[in-house]
Amino acid sequence: MNIKLRRTIRKYTQQPVSDELLNRLTEEAMRTQTMGNLQLYSVVVTRSAEKKELLSPAHFGQPMVKEAPVVLTICADFRRTTDWCLQRQANPGYDNFLSFINAATDALLFTQTFCCLAEEEGLGICFLGTTVYQPQAIIAALELPDLVFPVATLTVGWPAETPELSDRLPLEAVLHQETYSAFTPERIDACYAKREALPVNRHFVEINGKETLAQIFTDIRYTRKDNESMSEGLLAALVHQKFLRPDSLPGAVPNVVERRPDVLECDVVRFQNKKEKWVAFVGLLDGVPYEIFTGLQDDEEGIAIPKSVQKGFVIKHYDRDGQKRYDFQFVNKRGYKTTIEGLSERFNPKYWDYAKLISGVLRYQMPIDHVIKLITSLQLENDTINSWTTGVARVLKKYLPDSQQMPEEEEETN
Ligand SMILES: Cc1cc2nc3c(=O)[nH]c(=O)nc-3n(C[C@H](O)[C@H](O)[C@H](O)COP(=O)(O)O)c2cc1C
Repeated sequence: MNIKLRRTIRKYTQQPVSDELLNRLTEEAMRTQTMGNLQLYSVVVTRSAEKKELLSPAHFGQPMVKEAPVVLTICADFRRTTDWCLQRQANPGYDNFLSFINAATDALLFTQTFCCLAEEEGLGICFLGTTVYQPQAIIAALELPDLVFPVATLTVGWPAETPELSDRLPLEAVLHQETYSAFTPERIDACYAKREALPVNRHFVEINGKETLAQIFTDIRYTRKDNESMSEGLLAALVHQKFLRPDSLPGAVPNVVERRPDVLECDVVRFQNKKEKWVAFVGLLDGVPYEIFTGLQDDEEGIAIPKSVQKGFVIKHYDRDGQKRYDFQFVNKRGYKTTIEGLSERFNPKYWDYAKLISGVLRYQMPIDHVIKLITSLQLENDTINSWTTGVARVLKKYLPDSQQMPEEEEETN
């Protein structure tokens, strides 16, 4: 087929599209390039009137959905790859936005290859961008599991129309040499003049009472209001399918727990700083640092805990007179609890005060890399406290996401 003559087909004959043909075209399109050859897509075939009925509203009732013999929904799919990893002792990390983009790229490349092959075969195709407008309805209709997300729909059938060829912008509208060259007003005029002069477009502008063709797009076809509200639905659906975390939604506020729970799990992190042995108790809420207490390990008044202890609890305790203190509790190898009372009294009060400040910052969920930057930028009054801040920063590095891990300067003694 001459690509210069290809066009979207929205009306189809009654002639069926056989499974045999569909399978062959799909298999051929699977030769398309994909990330790591992982083939991060899947295709759901809809032939039944019942399912088409369910899909139709998601596509704003566009008639092709019910009229085409076949509707294909192409999905970004990290489910299969994730299941494969889990079954093969491999630890998948694909429940994130980057992985969605990668899978969506694979899915769209497959889609386009399929379109070319199908059109070559004489089939008529219409690409439905409405797939990402109300994805939740499609997810429900097709029972898509987590990590599977619809990105494209094709209505497929034998053409029952030969519509006019649509126009294209000139080459200069798309092609830039070496660097991106800005669009001056004259260049914009040159790019759009032919399109704006087409009788069909002039007529469209006139009957809609608009001044320009661009206004047809901004005010009628793709409005800010629709784009913003459908973006919200899209993001919510990405959260639902586990490609995004709920706190990445716009307007989401970090889930700050202001009142410290009476008992917090904690990590015990030992580290060496300028030849001194230090220990940090990092209180964790949902696995995220919520507070930190640190001090010298071999201080006579300090903390002595068995080397094997790496986890425990920091417990808020009120004396009879209402005085608050923090205790550390761990469970030994035989399952017995040991409590070290009064963490606060065992460490130098100055460190304690600075630790309180840092804990405040952690509690309000400043990202860990920013906390580390803040701590390392502190210029405190003496060398010992300055080296203490280095120690604290070193401890917190352990909690950076993998993607932000920094190289170690000194070996930990843990
Ligand atoms: C991302 C995307 C979304 C589209 N969505 C729709 C759609 O929802 N309904 C429709 O009738 N055509 C849709 N189309 C088809 C375009 O309208 C069509 O490709 C364009 O007008 C150019 O016409 P042609 O393909 O005949 O050259 C879509 C195409 C793309 C690439």
